[in-house]
Amino acid sequence: MSADFKTILAPMAGYTDFAFRAICREYGADLTVTEMVSSKALVMGNALSRRMLCREESDKPSFCQIFGHEPDVMAASVLLPEVQSYEGVDINMGCPVRKIVGSGDGSALLENPRLASQCISAVKKAWNKPLSVKFRLGVSDSGGAVDFAKMCADSGADFVTVHFRTRKQMYSGNADYTLLPKLASVGIPVIANGDVATAEQSLRLCEMGASGVAIGRGALGHPYLFSEVKGGHFCFDVLETIERHAELLTKVFEERIVANEMKKHVAAYLKGKRNGKSVVTEVMSAHTLEKILTPCRNFFDENPQMRRIIR
Ligand SMILES: Cc1cc2nc3c(=O)[nH]c(=O)nc-3n(C[C@H](O)[C@H](O)[C@H](O)COP(=O)(O)O)c2cc1C
Repeated sequence: MSADFKTILAPMAGYTDFAFRAICREYGADLTVTEMVSSKALVMGNALSRRMLCREESDKPSFCQIFGHEPDVMAASVLLPEVQSYEGVDINMGCPVRKIVGSGDGSALLENPRLASQCISAVKKAWNKPLSVKFRLGVSDSGGAVDFAKMCADSGADFVTVHFRTRKQMYSGNADYTLLPKLASVGIPVIANGDVATAEQSLRLCEMGASGVAIGRGALGHPYLFSEVKGGHFCFDVLETIERHAELLTKVFEERIVANEMKKHVAAYLKGKRNGKSVVTEVMSAHTLEKILTPCRNFFDENPQMRRIIR
């Protein structure tokens, strides 16, 4: 039986490519989100940014995540056909990476709620489908989080996804969910994000007021986590998933890019498997898909008991 809350694949630059999103969907993710894409690059016609927005038809509903800090540019970006092909738009106001913050994007907007509001309102005006905002608790403390959530609601966001860490924390320490009930009373749904890995935890967060959970790192190499947190049944075949992931990417990208992308995914799929490290080391120096897939196939031929997870 499925629990009554939403599971979302959190956006992860360099990881949540269209193939991974489609695979997570097959294991029950209710919503997927693209990697963050620069609204400015999209508007300027950057081919790579536009190509990052390719998607599988079966992966629905899916949101496109944009970042930026210029209301007009952000509004213009959501009018592009690549963005229009998505069911929703998510605005990144949480990214802590120095380069992004230094340009006034991502979590820099936590320090400038007025501009953040103008960005949300401008996108809302241009976009007549669901709109969400993803942000962190604050820069170095959570003092402004509730007001920031209210501002998002007042500016037109339909829901917010909150990573319950501050920017200063980056990815260290634990997510602190103390403020969740207060945030949930703001009036729009709140999706809880940060360290979610189990069904019990997801249910507890929903009891505290969350409408759903967004899962990031926990899903890497474990796309079946979406089924697991809902208490569903699944059969996960690691080798088949690696092969399918590569096959899907090959539909869009040239082999050199696919090989490069697959290295980090293979490392995630094999993480924690006994003797998996030597395969990952071999894969890391490979330049062709065959040189990535062959060591994986050999590994599972020798260790068939590690190939499937059935629940
Ligand atoms: C490699 C990596 C890339 C990320 N890229 C993005 C991104 O593009 N947009 C975004 O809003 N958050 C991004 N995040 C943050 C995640 O969406 C999520 O908020 C964070 O990892 C906490 O969730 P988790 O503990 O489930 O991983 C990224 C995180 C990681 C680890």
